Amino acid sequence: MSGEYESSLSHYWMPFTANRQFKAAPRLLVSAQGMYYKDAAGNDILDATSGLWCVNAGHCRKEIAQAIAQEAARLDYAPSFQISHPGPFEFASELVKHTPHGLDRVFFTNSGSEAVDTALKIALAYHRARGEGHRTRFIGEEKAYHGVGFGGISVGGIGKNRSQFGAWIPADHLPTTLNYEHNAFSRGEPGWGAHLADNLESILALHDPSTIAGVIVEPVNGSAGVIVHPKGYLRRLREICDRHGLLLIFDEVITGFGRLGAPFAGQFFNVTPDLMTCAKAITNAAVPMGAVFAKTSIYETITSGPDHQIEFFHGYTFSGHPLACAAGRAALEIYLREGLFHRAAEIGEYFEDAVHSLRDISIVRDIRNLGLMAGIELHPRGDEVGRRGYDALVGCFERGVLIRVTGDTIALSPPLIVEKHHIDKIVDIVRQVLRDIK
Ligand SMILES: Cc1ncc(COP(=O)(O)O)c(C=O)c1O
Repeated sequence: MSGEYESSLSHYWMPFTANRQFKAAPRLLVSAQGMYYKDAAGNDILDATSGLWCVNAGHCRKEIAQAIAQEAARLDYAPSFQISHPGPFEFASELVKHTPHGLDRVFFTNSGSEAVDTALKIALAYHRARGEGHRTRFIGEEKAYHGVGFGGISVGGIGKNRSQFGAWIPADHLPTTLNYEHNAFSRGEPGWGAHLADNLESILALHDPSTIAGVIVEPVNGSAGVIVHPKGYLRRLREICDRHGLLLIFDEVITGFGRLGAPFAGQFFNVTPDLMTCAKAITNAAVPMGAVFAKTSIYETITSGPDHQIEFFHGYTFSGHPLACAAGRAALEIYLREGLFHRAAEIGEYFEDAVHSLRDISIVRDIRNLGLMAGIELHPRGDEVGRRGYDALVGCFERGVLIRVTGDTIALSPPLIVEKHHIDKIVDIVRQVLRDIK
């Protein structure tokens, strides 16, 4: 790292980072273009993770930068409560042309975590408005990541994200569908395991379905290492939710905006949730933004009562921020013009073959993939869980490829503009590193 940054690392408390380890050997990115970052030493770093699953159209897109600059000069901010500006209305109208059928009411937030907590609140408010305020519990899934709000960590299923804080809203969890015995090295959706959705019935029987507000899942678990649900699993969850009057929430913070080869996972799996959360690629990551998409019937149920009354006591100072709306509209135009919502379907098979070619490496325990996301799970080194994953991260970075690791699983999710030669390079470097590390 170049000396100019070295003296100034103490004050920033980094999120989800081993701060002391990082500050002893920092990796700083200073610019980006297309598929590449540049680090502080001037090295090109091929981005195999779309930043953090979010830069779907590639970095520093000119049209997005221009849209942000223009809006910053024209309307820096407008209040979001009882006053507004045209941006969020226009952006919402454009977005809903591409969402799964009927999800056409949009509540803007600033992050995925806020979108999740907003969706949980919408579910509770909806049931109350229908006179079913007894529906207060949620059901999530083991290994699911739903951000870091107190709602999100309660319904989320990653132990470490809860253990320092507790879980604060009542939630039960479906067992993970990750199964090495039946599904290791599956290509795409595993064939075994749709019946695991029936665990939902057992949880409902335990609590009485009339106490449950909704079920929240990631259509593909991203952060826990790309766990692809078995074929038919999500449809079965939908059927059970319908049988018992539960809302089904898809957390599409990662799968939204083309990651699987359709605009949203709901369309890819042909299963429509009642609520859908998004963030990250909604602006191609250029300005923070999240959103909840709700069925019209949910919006209309909550926005009943006297006209002059605020119907939903929830929102953010920056909901529908002008810069985020400008960035989002410019990003959507790029996605549509360049066919990026379908790009993962076109190149997905090449990507799948490439990542599964790593199967013969002895430390590889499992490989999972769907669309343009893949998880390469390594056997842990003895009881040092996560060490091998971290070594892979550092090794790849030093050789010019940015990967993401979660524990001992490498997660790949390149920008949707990725070409075959980029995939070859990513897989080649990962192979070299996995052969080298102990
Ligand atoms: C599925 C899912 N939900 C929610 C979040 C939280 O989003 P944010 O980090 O923008 O709060 C993430 C972030 O990775 C995510 O992957």
